[in-house]
Amino acid sequence: MKQLIINGNKELTGEIKISGAKNSVVALIPAAILSDEEVTLYNVPNISDTKALMDIIELLNGKVDYKNETMKIDTSKIENKVVPESLSKKLRASYYFMGALLSKFKYAEIYFPGGCNIGSRPIDFHINGFKKLGAEVTIEGNKYIFKAEKLKGARIYLDFASVGATINIMLAAVKAEGTTHISNAAKEPEIVNIASLLNNMGAKIRGAGTSEIVIEGVEKLGKGVIDVIPDRIEAGTYTIIGALLGKDLKISGIIEDHIDALLSKLKEMGVDIKVKNNSLVINKPEQFKAINVKTLVFPGFATDLGQPMSVLLTQADGMSIFEETIYENRMGHIKYLQKMGANIRVNDRTAIIVGRTLLKGEEVTATDLRAGAAMVIAGLIAKGTTKVNEIEHILRGYENIVEKLTGVGADITIKED
Ligand code: EPU
Repeated sequence: MKQLIINGNKELTGEIKISGAKNSVVALIPAAILSDEEVTLYNVPNISDTKALMDIIELLNGKVDYKNETMKIDTSKIENKVVPESLSKKLRASYYFMGALLSKFKYAEIYFPGGCNIGSRPIDFHINGFKKLGAEVTIEGNKYIFKAEKLKGARIYLDFASVGATINIMLAAVKAEGTTHISNAAKEPEIVNIASLLNNMGAKIRGAGTSEIVIEGVEKLGKGVIDVIPDRIEAGTYTIIGALLGKDLKISGIIEDHIDALLSKLKEMGVDIKVKNNSLVINKPEQFKAINVKTLVFPGFATDLGQPMSVLLTQADGMSIFEETIYENRMGHIKYLQKMGANIRVNDRTAIIVGRTLLKGEEVTATDLRAGAAMVIAGLIAKGTTKVNEIEHILRGYENIVEKLTGVGADITIKED
């Protein structure tokens, strides 16, 4: 068991460089198996989700060479094998092997995916999409079996603009016969990143980044190269930390358009942020104005930043409202914030936060990845020592979090038992 130990209330100054996006790389790695040659990914973050997907590629007889943020995936000898529960359960994104294996072999056997416990998280849109493309889907115990004589382009409408379903259907449709239309597609930047790699490999995808994606099936996909986009959630997390503790703290390697909603909300709170080229510099203000934050699909306020943002709201003067609209269960961190001294009342998916409250160090738990990020932020601003348990969740998504924070003046260490 690993625990984070944080001695809070240190001013942070210097530079934090943002890594490649978790939610992109977790789809780019499965997408690579669609190639018959080699795929190269640059700016690959060294997080445990990346390692779990490398294990699946190796199980399928692919070769992975990963060093200095560059990953080369040789898929020329890929074989179709059952993806076992021990691997699929490690992360949510194992489900991208459903679309990728179905596309490549017209057959896939894969156990239910894992991932953060933030709601029921069904995958019915993925399954319905595969069925529309011509696949037969059966469930045996905890395992899905996908089978198709051939995949044929189809018109697919998503009831909700799901990131996972949009990507999975794109993966399944790139080599289908004819044209697939995905309407009400998700518009998140990660989707553009995946479509760019697939197009670089020879796919014909138009409209990624809009709500109408059109995919003309091709027979073969070859060599591919792509840069993983910067992680907008990691960038957002450190920007929130900068708002709370920054003294000319620089966050570099960002794409401003990807974090517009957050920057706008921080400015509304009175935070001084200067964006220049691909960096921003942030300073803690004298005081924060209370605001309301509602999570939405992109380009709205990201659900993955709602929990980190709720910690900042505890420091605003007056009543703020944080409303989560994507998942049922994004409030796992609130009881720990309350334990640390925050004044928060939760009603279903809404938290009413009254500030400003001084937080004090306590022993807390990372109940999921972004709840964990929230606990780190709370520990960084708290008086005294905070101990965060179950940090495996955090390490799934934040590369070198201890090194990055220590590098700008935080007092944070990992204790291993
Ligand atoms: N949904 C369905 N049926 C489906 C698919 C989704 O009802 O078939 C519902 C979900 O239950 C949820 C909503 O639609 O209520 C949104 O789900 P979506 O499919 O967009 O999310 P996801 O693909 O499972 C990805 C990220 C999440 C991020 C969301 C939203 C990955 C591996 N995960 O999840 O990231 O919150 O998009 O942007 O890419 C995280 O990084 O902490 C994280 C949870």
